[in-house]
Amino acid sequence: MAKRARPRETALITGASSGIGESLARRFAQEGHPLVLAARNQARLEALAVRLKDEFGVAVHVEACDLAQRDAPGALAAALRRRHIAIEVLVNNAGVLQQGEFTKMLPERHQELIDVNVSALTGMLAHFLPPMRERRRGRVLNVASIASFQPVPLLATYAATKAYVLSLTESLADELKDSGVTASALCPGITATRMLTDAVQANVRLARLPDFLVGSADEVAAEGYRACMEGVVIAVPGAVNRAVTLASRATPKWLLRRIAGSLARRTG
Ligand SMILES: NC(=O)c1ccc[n+]([C@@H]2O[C@H](COP(=O)([O-])OP(=O)(O)OC[C@H]3O[C@@H](n4cnc5c(N)ncnc54)[C@H](OP(=O)(O)O)[C@@H]3O)[C@@H](O)[C@H]2O)c1
Repeated sequence: MAKRARPRETALITGASSGIGESLARRFAQEGHPLVLAARNQARLEALAVRLKDEFGVAVHVEACDLAQRDAPGALAAALRRRHIAIEVLVNNAGVLQQGEFTKMLPERHQELIDVNVSALTGMLAHFLPPMRERRRGRVLNVASIASFQPVPLLATYAATKAYVLSLTESLADELKDSGVTASALCPGITATRMLTDAVQANVRLARLPDFLVGSADEVAAEGYRACMEGVVIAVPGAVNRAVTLASRATPKWLLRRIAGSLARRTG
C-alpha cells in the first residue's frame, strides 16, 4: 500500500509549555511536522519535546524565551537562523490574562498584557512573515479569543489585546492574498487550561461555570490546526461559542456593553 505523504512544514509554537499551546504542539507532531517549541519554562518544553519525539518520531527543538522582553522575537529568529531552521508555520499562542477592575490593576500588569499579547505577537510576525513571503509559502495561526469580538468589563485590557490580534490577523489575511502565505485567527471560548485555573483562584465564582461553556484544549487545538491548514481566516471552536459571537456581531454596541457589564458584575 502506498505510504501517505506527510506534511513537512516546520512549525514554531509559542506558549507550548502548557494548555492550548501544548495541545497544538501535540496535534502538529501527530501530523508529522518538525517543531520548534517556545515559552519561558524550559524544563516543561524539554519534557514535552522528549514525549513528542518518542510518540510521533518528529524533530523537536526547544527555545526557552521570555516574550515579555522587547528583543525576544528578534533573538529567537536569529537563534533559528544560526541553526538553519526555516519556519513555515508560525503559531502565536503565548498569552497572559489578568482580570479585575481596570483601576485596581497595577500598571505593570496592564503593560505585561500588552507586552506578551500584542507586542511579542507583532514582533514574531515582523520577524517570521517576510521570509515566508519571499519563499511564497507559509502559514500563521494567531490565537485570539471570543473576547476579541466584544468589550469585556473586568477583562478590559485582555479583551482589547485580543481585539487587536483579530483585527491584525484579518488585515494580514487580505494583504497576503495570493502570496502563498495565509493568516488565521483562532478564537477559543473558555478553555480548561492553567489560565482558567488561575482565573478561578482569583475569582471563585468562575468555578460555577456550567460544563458546556468550558472547552478542552485538545478540541481547540484540533480546530486551530484545521483552520491553519485550510487558511480559514477566523475560526471559533465550539457551537456555543459560534452562537455567542454571531449574536454579539448582530447586537448594537450600546446593548452589548450593557449585557457584558451586567454579566461581569454577576461573576466579578
Ligand atoms: N484558556 C482560555 O479560556 C482561553 C480562551 C481564549 C483564548 N485563550 C488564549 O489561548 C492562549 C493560550 O492560553 P492557555 O489557555 O493555554 O493558557 P496557559 O496554559 O496559561 O498557557 C499560556 C502559555 O503562554 C506562555 N507564556 C506566558 N507568558 C509568556 C512569556 N512572557 N514568554 C513566553 N511564553 C509565555 C506560557 O508558558 P511559560 O509560563 O512557560 O512561559 C504558556 O505556555 C493565550 O493566548 C490565551 O489568551 C485562552
